[in-house]
Amino acid sequence: MRDYFAKQMPYRTLTDLAPHKQRVLVRADLNVPMLSGRIMDEVRIHAALPTLRQLLESGNKVVLMSHLGRPVQGHFQPAQHSLQAVADALSRLLPYPVHFCPTCVGKTATQAVAALSHGEVLLLENLRAHPAETNNESAFARTLATYGDIYINDAFGTLHRAHASTAGVAKHFKQKGIGLLIQRECEQLHYVMHKPNKPLCCLLGGSKVSDKIDLIEALLPLADDLLIGGAMAFSFLYAKGIAVGRSKIEADKMQAVQKINAQAKAKGVSIHLPVDVWVARKPEDTNKKCVAISDIPDDARGFDIGTKSCQLFARLIHQSKRIIWNGPMGVYEQKAFATGTYAVIGAIAEATQRGAFSLAGGGDSLAALKSAGYDASILSHVSTGGGAMLAYLQKKPLPALEALHI
Ligand code: 3PG
Repeated sequence: MRDYFAKQMPYRTLTDLAPHKQRVLVRADLNVPMLSGRIMDEVRIHAALPTLRQLLESGNKVVLMSHLGRPVQGHFQPAQHSLQAVADALSRLLPYPVHFCPTCVGKTATQAVAALSHGEVLLLENLRAHPAETNNESAFARTLATYGDIYINDAFGTLHRAHASTAGVAKHFKQKGIGLLIQRECEQLHYVMHKPNKPLCCLLGGSKVSDKIDLIEALLPLADDLLIGGAMAFSFLYAKGIAVGRSKIEADKMQAVQKINAQAKAKGVSIHLPVDVWVARKPEDTNKKCVAISDIPDDARGFDIGTKSCQLFARLIHQSKRIIWNGPMGVYEQKAFATGTYAVIGAIAEATQRGAFSLAGGGDSLAALKSAGYDASILSHVSTGGGAMLAYLQKKPLPALEALHI
């Protein structure tokens, strides 16, 4: 698969550039969840390792940069925003010396870069400690560019951002390209969008239909079946004239929902909605019951897809050759309403084992996967990007990738 899609990507890869004993500036997405200075999930750090290993094995000096969280100007809080903990994790995971520089610009940074030896990594402090990063200020990008002779972007999660360390810095390099993570992510996304294996099933959930309108419109030309769960399903049910009790709907999105229904019909895409739901008064209410979609009591709210809906969705997932999943089926954070989400995750895992290609991404889906007790290996590909993955699927601009175009 790799060779086939690599030909379609107009970007230099690590194989093309083959840096050896050079100074390589690497942008990674080391934006990991933090709690009181502790890393809660290392997935993104592990995802950055293959590129770092390859560069270090070839005796390069690696100057590594990333953002962490969203410090607002003047509110850099070390426990939340310092990459020191990530440097410690990298030291543990890489058999090469990893140094940390407590700033990313200024004399300290310049001296730390100059002191770096071949086969060593220098991780610079959070780029977003400086508003110049997100403002894509050219002077800031120019300074970062002085730290390397070759620029490798491997931060898939930030491809949709035009920041100084991504789109800005790339302008200053002739020798530039993508790292192994971006290469793999783009290959997998390209694969799920363009492979002719059918049927393709898109399973979407989450609370707001407004967040997913663009995604649904982008998936309609590709999909055979669109399965909709989560609170957003109630807007679709309501648009069909079904009484949904006190379930969450977006009344101002009815036109968009009708448009999606019309587009789906024109393209021959089947939209499948829940046929039953678990209802209660509040998500914390343990007094829940499963009702047919036509029987939602006026004073109740739906918080999860019901038993028959799980069976229907599982059957459609099992029949599919490609599966794109984004968003939970219910309020899975409450154990009482996690059944639907866990059931579809189980069905996707089974379909994948039988040879279907499955792809998921986005913070909610990954958290649901973890809470169901699974890891990423049950799916064909779990993207490290949320917004970036959705932008890729929606064919929205990816300025950080475009800046690397050959
Ligand atoms: C992400 O977590 O999706 C990426 O790291 C990008 O972060 P941002 O949304 O804060 O730019």
